[in-house]
Amino acid sequence: MGKVRWGYRLAIAAGLSMGAVVAIAAPTCSSTASPFAKGATTCVTPAAAPAAGTLSPAAAVGNQMFHDTALSASGRQSCATCHSAATGFSAPNPAPVPLGGAGLNLQGLRNAPSLTYAAFTPGFSLTGTTTASAGQPARPNIPLGGMMHDGRLASLAVQATMPFITSFEMANTGSAQVTQRLKARPYLAQFTAVYGTAILNNPDATLAAMGQAIAAYETEDPAFHAFNSKFDAFMKGQTTLTAQETAGMQAFNNPGKGNCLACHASVGAGGLPALFTDHTFHVIGVPRNYGIAYNLDTTSLPSFVPENGIGLGAPNHNYYDMGLCGPLRTDLATSTQYCGSFKVPTLRNVAIKQAYFHNGVFNDLHQVLGFYATRNSQPGRWYKTPTGAPDILYNDLPVAYDRNVEPVNAPGHPIAPNLSPTDSDNIVSFLCTLTDGYDPQNPAAYRVPPQCRPAGPPPPPPPPPH
Ligand code: HEC
Ligand code: HEC
Repeated sequence: MGKVRWGYRLAIAAGLSMGAVVAIAAPTCSSTASPFAKGATTCVTPAAAPAAGTLSPAAAVGNQMFHDTALSASGRQSCATCHSAATGFSAPNPAPVPLGGAGLNLQGLRNAPSLTYAAFTPGFSLTGTTTASAGQPARPNIPLGGMMHDGRLASLAVQATMPFITSFEMANTGSAQVTQRLKARPYLAQFTAVYGTAILNNPDATLAAMGQAIAAYETEDPAFHAFNSKFDAFMKGQTTLTAQETAGMQAFNNPGKGNCLACHASVGAGGLPALFTDHTFHVIGVPRNYGIAYNLDTTSLPSFVPENGIGLGAPNHNYYDMGLCGPLRTDLATSTQYCGSFKVPTLRNVAIKQAYFHNGVFNDLHQVLGFYATRNSQPGRWYKTPTGAPDILYNDLPVAYDRNVEPVNAPGHPIAPNLSPTDSDNIVSFLCTLTDGYDPQNPAAYRVPPQCRPAGPPPPPPPPPH
């Protein structure tokens, strides 16, 4: 499996309509099924993707826009501000949610996910299928795919237009203002070389083209899908895992222990290595995070945060982020069986993320594992009031939707909390092998963030370069 094939598949995955600029030959596929559909026929792909490090003209200008703070109302925020390469294109700080707006002082609503491997996300549908595991048969007709924690945006290209005009992010007033800013940028000629100059007369089309260019960058640049973690090197037989990493992998995959693979698929599909997500949606019941000001009932909510819990009465809160059923997503508002559902994120590069879950409630993978293992056996450890006292179970969901919390396939189920602290530590050490950038020739250079280091004295400094 070479980079070329992955590069090709990415171009399909993002659904880019840029045949003119991305010179990719037609696939030789024995099936028209999406490469993501379960059981899809594997494509035999001609070697026609751009060489690593070579971006198409659209992607090259997309790269510049991705990193350009001058396209924001504050003048101080770009895509890369919230999606930093240093943290797998997730937020480079431990804050639960980013700040944005013209004054960079408005809290957002959710944690910024890693953009690595996002190009492999299938389009949203309500007809996904869960992975069969732990004696549970696969379940049909469950929500799948789409961009954002709630899958509400159709593609990378559509997604990449939104932050520019979102009031609590880059905060332009609309496509006209974004186009105005673009016209003053040094790479304008590169942009018009791809999309023509006439497009600048149509701000909506200009913003859409900017989205396409940024999506091309996210799709073509190998940094977004390097598949070169320690785990990948292990799968290719280029390295071995430590005893602890191996034990962690086994617990991760064991339906009687972590059962993580039921959602964070650890086996590749459609000719791709494992993505550690099956792109489905589940209700994990993560604790309410009062680090997001809107989650405090004492906060007067700004116009972009609805009081969607205020009519429910105690012990419900004024505002809830319920994922698939809203409020950011609106088309499934009455499908209350989905309230609390969020998309399964990839676990690739998870160890270099700084905050976890859609509301950034945890900053350490050991906490995440502790929560999964003891959500129902020790709920007081996790569900807290703003003063730190034990709170009701599933306190970030209206009580009426508690029943939506994943009944099967999830560790921490009341019947069987089945991860010992050692299992949890082992799983963390396995997750630490999913960070990209492992060189089997130079393992000492691998990124081992503090949470990945075994407890005890700090390791000796790496040897000096020679
Ligand atoms: C102020 C911080 C911020 C900025 C600036 C920002 N993002 Fe994001 N990004 C987020 C957050 C938060 C989410 C999750 C939003 C949600 O689920 O509603 C997100 C989600 C995404 C996703 C969805 C990934 C997935 O797997 O579903 C993509 C892709 C993305 N951003 C790309 C971009 C691009 C491209 C830009 C620049 C045009 C950008 N972002 C600017 C914070 C930011
Ligand atoms: C039933 C499906 C399911 C199972 C089983 C499952 N997860 Fe998850 N996982 C999710 C969903 C859904 C989210 C996102 C939830 C949210 O943000 O509210 C998530 C989020 C995470 C995150 C946070 C990632 C990030 O970028 O913020 C980590 C880490 C994680 N899971 C690890 C694991 C591990 C380890 C296991 C096994 C012990 C596991 N998960 C089992 C569905 C599952």
